[in-house]
Amino acid sequence: MSDRYGDSTRAVKAVSSQPIPGEPVGPGPVLASAFHLSEDEGSEANTYGRGSNPSWHRLEAALAQLEDAAAALTFGSGMAAITAALRVTAKPGSVLVVPADGYYQVRRYATESLAPLGVTIREVSSEQIYQAAEEADVVLAETPTNPALDVVDLHRLGQICRRRGARLLVDNTTATPLGQQPLSLGADLVVASATKALSGHSDLLAGYAAGSHPELMAALERERLLSGAILGSFEAWLVSRSLGSVGLRFERQCQNALALATALHRHPRIRSVRYPGLPDDPSYAVAVAQMRRFGGLVSVELADAAAVHDLVRRSELLVASTSFGGIHTSVDRRARWGDPVADGFARISAGIEDTDDVVADVLAALES
Ligand SMILES: Cc1ncc(COP(=O)(O)O)c(C=O)c1O
Repeated sequence: MSDRYGDSTRAVKAVSSQPIPGEPVGPGPVLASAFHLSEDEGSEANTYGRGSNPSWHRLEAALAQLEDAAAALTFGSGMAAITAALRVTAKPGSVLVVPADGYYQVRRYATESLAPLGVTIREVSSEQIYQAAEEADVVLAETPTNPALDVVDLHRLGQICRRRGARLLVDNTTATPLGQQPLSLGADLVVASATKALSGHSDLLAGYAAGSHPELMAALERERLLSGAILGSFEAWLVSRSLGSVGLRFERQCQNALALATALHRHPRIRSVRYPGLPDDPSYAVAVAQMRRFGGLVSVELADAAAVHDLVRRSELLVASTSFGGIHTSVDRRARWGDPVADGFARISAGIEDTDDVVADVLAALES
């Protein structure tokens, strides 16, 4: 899509329908498991709901535009998209690199489901990923990582993978395509959860993969058909509907995240803050080079678990929730889920409340 457009315009255009008089401006979901067949067998655009659905196609075309990809495929969740991509790319005998500091259930899937099939799994931190890629067949990078918010230099990693002939998959969940476009930085495939900021209302699960290698996309589509890890057409419609406002929502989330990070940075009750958009964050230089926005997540470390619970209890705006990217500012104490972080480590997901309100609320909750 044209570079002259800003993100909100791109998002609105991506979900716009053809201007056909009498047809809806905002088409509804197509709820169907079976479609009428033709005598001219094989000529039909849709036959059975596990293979294809017009509501997916509309969403997939929009996601492909936002990710600057030739094609996108929707899945029933982010995990469904990621695990399908790993099954298609990591074969018995392959060496697969997964983030040790990224979304924990991806590591679990790799060790519990792929290792027994003969895939060698290397769990490495964002710092170690470049060296590990030198000996890998498939590299899954997550950037910024969830929950520590380290940024991986995708240009550098892409060069290593290309030289070696390894596939580079990038989880773009935390940054979203409005924050960065990994395919233009050297990734072979983007995988992501649309459960978070893209849909943004904490009311559905969805995932997608986007890329421009025809054989990889065809293999993924076949994997989705055979595994059945499809997105319901109602959810596909809900994501398309939400995508039109993602530019506005994400802009406010990023603004609130930066304001929170700035206010909490050096606050006496906060031991440390991570936000890639803070000039003295260790990831700032790489983030500035590859990200258009720094995202809606801020990670902070408080004294202990009780301090995190106190913060939520004393606040009037914060909700305790383990997902992120929704309209509410939310807090998740990540040690609860076994992430390798301190007990008082909390991931804050900035919502779309007024910036001054959310900053004042969090400061008051910390000080009371
Ligand atoms: C970075 C990241 N990738 C993937 C996922 C999985 O997405 P889903 O919950 O939609 O399966 C998550 C979920 O939190 C995530 O944080």
